[in-house]
Amino acid sequence: MSEQVEIFEVGPRDGLQNEAKPISAMDKIALVNLLSEAGFRRIEVGSFVSPKWVPQMAESDKVLAGITRMPDVRYGALVPNQMGFAAALAARADEIAVFASASEGFSKANVNATIAESLDRFRPILEEARHIDLPVRGYVSCVTDCPYDGPVDPGAVAKVADQLFAMGCYEISLGDTIGKGRTDTVSKMLLTVREHVPVSRLAGHFHDTGGHALENVDCALSLGVRVFDAAVGGLGGCPYAPGAAGNVATEALHAHLDRLGFATGLHPDRLAQAADMAKSLRAGD
Ligand code: HMG
Ligand code: MG
Repeated sequence: MSEQVEIFEVGPRDGLQNEAKPISAMDKIALVNLLSEAGFRRIEVGSFVSPKWVPQMAESDKVLAGITRMPDVRYGALVPNQMGFAAALAARADEIAVFASASEGFSKANVNATIAESLDRFRPILEEARHIDLPVRGYVSCVTDCPYDGPVDPGAVAKVADQLFAMGCYEISLGDTIGKGRTDTVSKMLLTVREHVPVSRLAGHFHDTGGHALENVDCALSLGVRVFDAAVGGLGGCPYAPGAAGNVATEALHAHLDRLGFATGLHPDRLAQAADMAKSLRAGD
């Protein structure tokens, strides 16, 4: 049997959050429903952040309320603080994700807080989530390069990943937020991080700005990573990371993994349909 690699679909959140044109909750719901049919086990549907900071995600509660939930799929949402956590619970998110940065410059730009302050916000959230058995994923951004501070020390990434894991995050997704990572910097970073967090609990989150995301996936695969985030249609980027293009496109990653002989459990036809739909939602289309 082929070895499994899971693709964690982040398109409805990371893919769409940067789109300037407002996209209706109805369209987002239709996209998530297609993705559910494509066979993903985890889909990041939206985020409960300040609507002043990311207006496109303002209706994430409506999206979570409107989707057809499949029993084996977990529908997640990004949460920056207690207010977002309460909103995610009210919207019945199956899991949440907290997000920190390995660099101070991006932390300030993205969440208006230092790294330490952002982690302090997450501690009580993780504690509460543990009491109610809600899975929490943790992101670390800027794992190789920061748009504000330049190259990032692998030790800084390991420190934040370690703290999120110790707080109770079940998986740590390592974000090459601006797609500047290359196999040498990605491998150095992963070799350092996996000394602190078991590689089975790590995920790769590669933006494809530089067109090197698939090479970085190969590098991470060779070091034992078996979960990768991707956005259908390759949409998106982060509004607080200038120049950040979309995540690696799910359909490209799926085809790549298939060529390498890994099983993802995804249905290519449905995936292609979802990619077409995601692209049609892009501003100007
Ligand atoms: P702040 O301005 O410092 O917050 O923002 P505040 O606590 O001073 O509150 C200011 C206002 O926001 C108040 O409203 C609050 O009620 C409201 P006002 O009194 O002015 O009317 N507010 C909220 N409203 C709704 N939901 C909330 C919430 N919190 C406060 N949860 C804050 C701090 C963290 C809120 C802000 O910086 C923020 O929302 N940042 C999120 C930015 C974001 O979503 N970035 C993209 C996601 S991260 C990413 O893409 C990277 C990733 O993909 C991995 C990778 O690629 O590296 C995950
Ligand atoms: Mg991202």
